[in-house]
Amino acid sequence: KRVVVLLSGNGSTLQALIDQQPDSHYDIVGVFSNRPGVFGLQRAARANIPHCTINHQDFSDRGTFDQHMLQSIDQLNPDYVVLAGYMRILSSDFIRHFSGRLINIHPSLLPKHKGLNTYQNALALGDREHGTTVHFVTDELDSGAIILQASLPVHPVDTVQTLEQRVKAMEQKIYPLAVDCLCSGRLIGKDSVVWLDNHPL
Ligand code: GRF
Repeated sequence: KRVVVLLSGNGSTLQALIDQQPDSHYDIVGVFSNRPGVFGLQRAARANIPHCTINHQDFSDRGTFDQHMLQSIDQLNPDYVVLAGYMRILSSDFIRHFSGRLINIHPSLLPKHKGLNTYQNALALGDREHGTTVHFVTDELDSGAIILQASLPVHPVDTVQTLEQRVKAMEQKIYPLAVDCLCSGRLIGKDSVVWLDNHPL
């Protein structure tokens, strides 16, 4: 299946998707960034994946930018659009257009800690566990059907940095797995998720 990745930064999750691609049922056919010069684009270049920047600052409003992004993505004819550290709120039109084909990974155990600063919030609230969630994207931020979650214990000595490091290591395992399971047809879904295979791991 054809996968397009959207990012805004470092692209460590893109790298995990690239690394797992040979053993998976997906092909990353394009990478788009809304920010120029980010390291994620270099990762795409190194893997010979077509990539480009569509800078949101070149557009007068979110709707126009998203429409341009949508048309550019459509030219690649993707089965799935995978957000990998894409730090833009998406417009309803964009989300509706890719409904059921648009997924994200969020660094918390949703529905806990939607939005930014999840590590700070988990530590401030004294959470005993934290983690990451792969989910479908819907109009409501970080609220679409959950595909896969992974959790780990928070240690008393944890800082934002140590917690983030451990959660990111888990993200790099579960995101390629989730994308592969979708692309291989082992799970289906949109508003809710059904595993067709009882042993995804
Ligand atoms: C990941 O932690 C993901 O959960 C969040 O953005 C981060 C992206 O990191 N949505 P990177 O840019 O892929 O390194």
